[in-house]
Amino acid sequence: MATASIKAIGAYVPPTVITNDELSQRLDTSDEWIRTRTGIRQRHAAGPEETTATLSYAAARSALEEADLSPQAVDWILVCTDTAEMWSPATACFVQAMLGAERASAIDLTGGCAGFLQALTLAQGIVAQGKTVLLIGTEVLTKAVDWSDRSTAVLFGDGSGAFLLTPGEDGIIPRQAFSQSDGRQADILNKPYGGTRNPLTPELVAEGHHHTIHMEGRKVFRHAVHHMSDAARRVLQEAGMTSEQVAWVVPHQANQRILDAVAKELAIPPAKVFSHVAHYANTGSASVVLALADMLTQGLIRPQDQLLSVAFGSGFSWAAQLLEVRSPVPARFVNKD
Ligand SMILES: CC(C)(COP(=O)(O)OP(=O)(O)OC[C@H]1O[C@@H](n2cnc3c(N)ncnc32)[C@H](O)[C@@H]1OP(=O)(O)O)[C@@H](O)C(=O)NCCC(=O)NCCS
Repeated sequence: MATASIKAIGAYVPPTVITNDELSQRLDTSDEWIRTRTGIRQRHAAGPEETTATLSYAAARSALEEADLSPQAVDWILVCTDTAEMWSPATACFVQAMLGAERASAIDLTGGCAGFLQALTLAQGIVAQGKTVLLIGTEVLTKAVDWSDRSTAVLFGDGSGAFLLTPGEDGIIPRQAFSQSDGRQADILNKPYGGTRNPLTPELVAEGHHHTIHMEGRKVFRHAVHHMSDAARRVLQEAGMTSEQVAWVVPHQANQRILDAVAKELAIPPAKVFSHVAHYANTGSASVVLALADMLTQGLIRPQDQLLSVAFGSGFSWAAQLLEVRSPVPARFVNKD
């Protein structure tokens, strides 16, 4: 069984930026409220011509170019998203066509903000068979929020990140992983309308029910801190590591207060918990990859670093992943602040 190696990372955020002050002009909110509750100062937002597939394509193409690999070499394209291009077919099929990755098999996975790390576990099984995988996490959440709901609209942004995974012993190696779900909590964070349980009707739309996010923020906060910390402890224990041996925590960028609380729970100095939530807000399935791409392009990651990635999101689902840096890999982050 071949070891999976992350060989290159591509990331893309749309060029359009929406600041908290700009949001305050269309919602009853303020820069001060958003900053102090979440740490978010701005978010990048897809323009009218941009979609989940176009963002995914931009990130995937960057990863392939950084690895100097042809799209023809790709065996599988996996797109993790909660904001798909359309109901059917999979967003990954559009990305395959845009890339010209004619040999590839393409499929989507939906796992909320922890979905990318859950999918990384699945992707390793494919790479173990000698295959090359593009694992992409993408959200266009600004087209999925209820712009009349100030408690959710301020939290999210758009972006895409791609790992190019091949068999190999160099690059960044995914090691111990843990993930779990609790579907009993599905009602706390979801997009309840538009599926087969609540199909959209003119009446529902007239009542203001669309494909938008519903969230009970306080409950999410509490569960997120508990499960991210617990998952992190589990993978550290399985690896026989202490938190002091972790060079960086690379968390899902939900909210600065969640990151601070997780750091405290794990007794890890906040300076070792990477955060750029101020710039990009919560980008769901893209978040961990954007963070890693940002760190690599800043030169923050060094050979032999042990990285601990943790995430939590709808489902609820949560995940932790240890990443061993044998050698820092090439990364490109398009439209990085
Ligand atoms: C969303 C979150 C920031 C709200 O902070 P909070 O301190 O829990 O705030 P509450 O929801 O209790 O609301 C407190 C007050 O602020 C108000 N408020 C909510 N959003 C606001 C906004 N954007 N601007 C101004 N006021 C706002 C509420 O209406 C409420 O007012 P009231 O007391 O008059 O009723 C916080 O719960 C949170 O971070 N949750 C986790 C969210 C998350 O990260 N989700 C994704 C996980 S993957």
